[in-house]
Amino acid sequence: MTRLQTLISTFENTFNTAPEAVCHGPGRVNLIGDHTDYNDGFVLPAAINFGTDIAANPREDRTVRVIASDISKEMESFSLDNIEFNEQVMWVNYVAGTLQCLMAHYPDLKGADMVVSGNVPQGAGLSSSASFEIAILRTFAKLHGLPLDGVTAALIGQKAENEFVGCNCGIMDQLISAMGKEDNAMLLDCRSLSFEHAPVPANVSVVIINSNVKRGLVDSEYNTRREQCEAVAKHFDKPALRDVSLAELEADKANIDSVLFRRARHVITENDRTVAALDALKANDLKTMGELMVQSHMSLKDDFEVTTSEMDYLVEIIADVVGDKGGVRMTGGGFGGCVVALAPDELVDGIKATIEELYQAKTGLIADVYVCAAKDGAFFEA
Ligand code: GLA
Repeated sequence: MTRLQTLISTFENTFNTAPEAVCHGPGRVNLIGDHTDYNDGFVLPAAINFGTDIAANPREDRTVRVIASDISKEMESFSLDNIEFNEQVMWVNYVAGTLQCLMAHYPDLKGADMVVSGNVPQGAGLSSSASFEIAILRTFAKLHGLPLDGVTAALIGQKAENEFVGCNCGIMDQLISAMGKEDNAMLLDCRSLSFEHAPVPANVSVVIINSNVKRGLVDSEYNTRREQCEAVAKHFDKPALRDVSLAELEADKANIDSVLFRRARHVITENDRTVAALDALKANDLKTMGELMVQSHMSLKDDFEVTTSEMDYLVEIIADVVGDKGGVRMTGGGFGGCVVALAPDELVDGIKATIEELYQAKTGLIADVYVCAAKDGAFFEA
């Protein structure tokens, strides 16, 4: 049985009826532009062929019943009239928080019976949580006929994450999960929330390599980085680092703490690289794209300090295989998780072989390699 068949049969066995809707929210990989979204900057992610699926039926009352079939067969249940943070069952907070934020738009929302299953590797920086939030919103939109658009859904998911779950993330993950497009990456302006899709060049693979470094201190380090960026914007009396140029930053170097200076330099240069990367992708110029990706990695390593030695090593050995035919860099929040490579299809076997030969010997860890396809977001309509 496939995972989807299991999902549906679990639903049927639990609720004694077939699900009216089966909805999906994809995870994402970011090709370039990390730690820019909460600075009102630019990102260039793609939705991927891993995600969260929900089988569901509408209810006429305000009860929500849900099983996370990958975790346990136990059903959680709550009322939309009484939403509280659940200290014991962490995953249910994604459901409760997302629905609480959805009710700001639809106060009379009705409940649902649901079974959830996902295959986004957890804690790998591929946005399993955003895929879950967007899958819930897609499910409720479908069950109850809500005219929810992808940008609004993304904002609701982000709000749930910020205000209910407690992670101060930007808008990238939810927006690409909602509005990604098959075979395309998407340049997103995180200030205006306007976006532009650009095809991943033909015969080029998006390869995600999970370092399997257990991510630690992610939320606290993430929130610290965010505060550091905001402090520099404030120093310049600007709304966000998006509004500070590299020349302005450098001219004032003597008056800025050296750590904060490097944090800001990463964000400002990363925005430029991300906009340039869209042009490189459109021109099928993998050499330039590759250079931008490696510069991005070095900036995240040296200026933003969110990589680990294992991720740095993966980038180093994969860059040797890819040469000037593609690129590789860390992706997502950092402190463990994945690196992403863009490479011609014929180099994928060489990338895998190199990782197998060198990575475990050096780090004691085994990396997982996923050759991915860019997929439609949950709210994307062609
Ligand atoms: C996490 C956050 C995103 C973004 C990235 C870094 O994935 O959820 O909003 O800030 O880190 O680019």
